[in-house]
Amino acid sequence: MTDVMKPPVAMPPFEYTPRPYTGPSREEVLALRSQYVNPALFTLYRDPLMIVEGKMQYLFDETGRRYLDFFAGIVTVSCGHCHPKVVQRVQEQVGTLQHTSTIYLHPNLSLLARKLASKMPAGLDVTYFVNSGSEANDLAVTMARLFTGNSEVIAVRNAYHGGSPSSLALTSHHTWKYPLPPQAGVHHTLCPDPSISRLTGTADEVARQAALDIRELIRYSTPGRIAAFIAEPIQGVGGVTRGGPNYFREAYAIVREHGGLCISDEVQTGFGRTGEHYWGFQNYGVTPDIVTMAKGIGNGAPLAAVTTRREIAESLTQRIHFNTFGGNPVSMAAGLAVLEVIDEDGLQENARKVGGRLLRGLRRLQEHHALVGEARGMGLMLGVELVADRSTRAPATAQTLAVLEAAREMGLLLGKGGLEGNVLRIKPPMCITADDADFALDVLDRALTRVGRS
Ligand SMILES: Cc1ncc(COP(=O)(O)O)c(C=O)c1O
Repeated sequence: MTDVMKPPVAMPPFEYTPRPYTGPSREEVLALRSQYVNPALFTLYRDPLMIVEGKMQYLFDETGRRYLDFFAGIVTVSCGHCHPKVVQRVQEQVGTLQHTSTIYLHPNLSLLARKLASKMPAGLDVTYFVNSGSEANDLAVTMARLFTGNSEVIAVRNAYHGGSPSSLALTSHHTWKYPLPPQAGVHHTLCPDPSISRLTGTADEVARQAALDIRELIRYSTPGRIAAFIAEPIQGVGGVTRGGPNYFREAYAIVREHGGLCISDEVQTGFGRTGEHYWGFQNYGVTPDIVTMAKGIGNGAPLAAVTTRREIAESLTQRIHFNTFGGNPVSMAAGLAVLEVIDEDGLQENARKVGGRLLRGLRRLQEHHALVGEARGMGLMLGVELVADRSTRAPATAQTLAVLEAAREMGLLLGKGGLEGNVLRIKPPMCITADDADFALDVLDRALTRVGRS
């Protein structure tokens, strides 16, 4: 429990003055949004927060108040808000040529595809560009079906793969599913994460049994041959969950035995976020056949991609495949700048170092706060599961929201995830510092103390 007499750790100083905000008031924006904008939108906080400017790991509201951003536009701002190099490259490209399409040659498209190939295991060297993670997963599954001639796809329970009709079929959370006829040919296998699985044993044993469920699923529910298995190396929306290190190796072997391709959804785990490796799958010593990516590749630009082997990519050449904005020169300029910045600014190493410091701090909080069921994750892809009762792991959903609100009051913006909405998600821009981490840990300590007492 926090020593409440201890003075709070201050947010680290930051030499930056946001521009004076002169737009419509927060109340006007809220009223306009309620009247004219898609009613399915939601905001994270009871009293919605308006953000009008960002610089690196910080965001500013309309009054100029600074917040430390620990959710990065939902794991999207990889290099930092308005990173100077990314801004400069995008501005140059917007002022030179904003759009043509892939019917003409443009260097940016080919250069980014080559750069991505240089980051992949040998053989994964051909890329399709699209605009969102959902589209990337749709395309990956389409390619797998065409290439294998099989139609059945296996995804993992508790996964999130997108919101388009076919990626939503891969997603495995009732909270996102509309009562519409399901898409055929998608099956969900058991989640290998011991914290949410009913399987028992060590993490390795749970992972082995979960991988064996793929075999059972194929045997009972498919013609025996499948098109693909798709999985996130660490489930993001699902609350930072994953199986023991043997899961992917064993799952991929079973999938391949049945003719399937392995798709790694790196929308959240890619680009160094897990710290040890550039791609999430590398943490398990496996090589997928298709890699899908979005979010962090653009640092906020609407950019996503599917990288695979040439023979798989060629499956789409039998008909016309076209995407108006896929390969757009501005998005490509953003992607190229982002990949350079990740290397130049040492962001993967920073994710490893600062992420390790954060995880150690979160585990200390776990020792002191009964609300914390588990602190977990890798690099800067971290989660804190809040429970009402450690022995039953009953989700502390209302308390999670209360912690989020309390942290916001103290200047820290967190995310929320897990099927029961009881996991704090910590996925900041990868440029955060050790001082930011210490400030966030102090805020969390105080928020947990306050909520734990109420
Ligand atoms: C792992 C994963 N895959 C796919 C998607 C879908 O991406 P988008 O929202 O860009 O369609 C998301 C979005 O959160 C995601 O987290």
